[in-house]
Amino acid sequence: MSRRSLRGRDILSINDLSREEIYTILEVAKEFKLEGKVGRRERLLEGKNLALIFAYESTRTRIGFEAAMHQLGGDCIYLPIKTMMAARGEPWKDTARVLDRIVDGVAARLLEEKAIYELAEYAEIPVINASTPTDHPVQTLGELLTILEKKGRLEGLKITYNGMTRALCHSLLLVCPKLGMDIAVSYPEVYSIDERVLEEARRNAEETGAEIILTHDLKEAVKDSDVVYDCILMRSYLAGEKVTDEDKILIEKYQITEDVMKLAKEDAIFMHPGPAFRGYEVTDDVIEGPQSVVWDEVENAFYAKKAVLALILG
Ligand code: CP
Repeated sequence: MSRRSLRGRDILSINDLSREEIYTILEVAKEFKLEGKVGRRERLLEGKNLALIFAYESTRTRIGFEAAMHQLGGDCIYLPIKTMMAARGEPWKDTARVLDRIVDGVAARLLEEKAIYELAEYAEIPVINASTPTDHPVQTLGELLTILEKKGRLEGLKITYNGMTRALCHSLLLVCPKLGMDIAVSYPEVYSIDERVLEEARRNAEETGAEIILTHDLKEAVKDSDVVYDCILMRSYLAGEKVTDEDKILIEKYQITEDVMKLAKEDAIFMHPGPAFRGYEVTDDVIEGPQSVVWDEVENAFYAKKAVLALILG
């Protein structure tokens, strides 16, 4: 596959990418990481601008996109929605056409799935999903890079996802089976998994023979996992989203502790995309422990962003 084939593409869902395209992005991200270690930076996006639209707070995603654009010789315009006319009701299709005439690409973190699809429909420039309720594609590419780096392969591994059933749960459900990884999702009863995502995930699994397990039993899920992927447990902590009955979640039932880690394979890694709430979805000794790779995830998510930007805006 030619690297040029990703040029001009939107990345709205991780499922927009073929297996081959995913591996191409990971390969470029690895190259950028190696070059970064020796201080080599090619200004592949000189003079280009990326609009960064955020409906709510971000540490890693915003810093990652901004630093990646700067390293590639381009610029970012940070646009919290509350500072835009979109906050006063200007339709996304109009905002899309404004952006289209001025900047070279958009990365958007939005609370509504249909808003990012409207942006992409009306803007000819590439639109990247920087997290919506059902997808977080570029973060997911970074996670795949970390797993590949630590385990040397993706196919044939078992990953357990534990936490709220939001963006990363959905993205991992889509991508892991596509790449031949088994996935067990452990989630509290008060949450539900997006049916459309589940249908697509099952289709992906049929093609590779990967197994999908959905359970409310964390200990059952974690058994024999190569990767224990933990995420925020209390959905209302993110973006202030209201979730009915969230106060009924039994934290100890969904907390990754050292005892839970012992149920996974001996060489299993612990992952969390951040922000991690210690004492809720994870204990301090696990996230600070020898199996934790959480800071490598931050670095790799940055290089995944850099690769995506170079490939689609270059
Ligand atoms: N992982 C992630 O999306 O982090 P931020 O919310 O800090 O961007």
